[in-house]
Amino acid sequence: MTGLTAASKILGTGHYVPPTVVTNADLAKRFDTSDEWIQQRSGIKERRYSTEEDPTSVMGAKALRAACADAGIDVAEIDCIVLGTLSPDYDFPGSAVLVQDLLGLNGIACIDVRNQCTGFLYSLAIADSFVRAGMFKRVAVIGSEVHSTGIDFSDEGRDVTVLFGDGAAAAVVGPTDDPNVGMLTHCLHADGSGAQQLWIPNPGSRNFPHRAPQTMYADRSVYPQMNGRAVFKWACTKLPEVINEALEKTGYTLDDIDLLVPHQANRRINEMVAKQLGFPQDKVVHNIEMYGNTTAASVGIALDEARRDGRIVAGSLVCLAAFGSGFTWAATIVRF
Ligand code: UT7
Repeated sequence: MTGLTAASKILGTGHYVPPTVVTNADLAKRFDTSDEWIQQRSGIKERRYSTEEDPTSVMGAKALRAACADAGIDVAEIDCIVLGTLSPDYDFPGSAVLVQDLLGLNGIACIDVRNQCTGFLYSLAIADSFVRAGMFKRVAVIGSEVHSTGIDFSDEGRDVTVLFGDGAAAAVVGPTDDPNVGMLTHCLHADGSGAQQLWIPNPGSRNFPHRAPQTMYADRSVYPQMNGRAVFKWACTKLPEVINEALEKTGYTLDDIDLLVPHQANRRINEMVAKQLGFPQDKVVHNIEMYGNTTAASVGIALDEARRDGRIVAGSLVCLAAFGSGFTWAATIVRF
């Protein structure tokens, strides 16, 4: 234990996306969809798909190396890894331990977070709490996902398949003496009554006597199932609510926020959220057109891009917000 600290801040960020670009036209060759439908309903133009060389753990390790370089620290200084994913390399163990081994950090604490699209924000909150409590000094937060090996490339799965892409993001969290800088608040929520609105039914340990029923490919229960309209409506309600809650907790108003970095699930959702809040559309980060929905990686990728292209500078007040399967939803306010 190193003793309580006033606050923690994001010391550096990084991301990695695999090189293979898959356009809407590429998908339209595999099942009944069109570039026009996908762009109009979601804003997505293309996404990245991974290969054997880039499983969840490897992409996470690459993103973390970039975040450490950005923070100006040696990877060896990391003393804890918190990794959000819904697509771990294996059912168990989690992927955080695999990242640890890849980076030669054997012995340090590792945690996998199973919170889907809010995984990056839940992981940031855990890292912040660890640092404030004096448990650790350089916590790696990672969101990494491989969707492309688990989606349904048939007409039945088209509503979900067009939305998702692969990629990873990371942040390094450490202590600061300045209470006005860093992570100022986190609002974390969940409502398990929505669990089956966006989920993968199989395989699962509640199936007896075998968790992987032989029928799961034939009945397509091995693929994500989504009530798209319900998720859309619910996101448009909960995101403004949790952003306002986070503002109230810090005493800031929307006018103080320099940039909103939301989860990239659908461009229309984020535009609607800004409209409902009365927040300027040009202060909302969008990159869904290039990557689709990368779930636990999405907020981290958007955050890293906004830092690298100068939309976030020292002193910027940034709101991160996400929602997703669970249901879960969250917002974090950060002063850089
Ligand atoms: O991180 C959280 C992840 N999930 C989300 O955020 C999802 C939120 N929901 C959405 O983004 C939208 O509901 C979708 C983009 C998934 C769908 O848009 P929508 O405007 O709600 O369309 P819909 O589901 O009502 O479907 C409209 C039509 C249907 O055809 P009919 O019944 O009107 O003839 C669908 O069969 O579009 C059809 N459709 C497609 N057509 C071409 C559904 N998926 C596709 C597709 N290509 N990929």
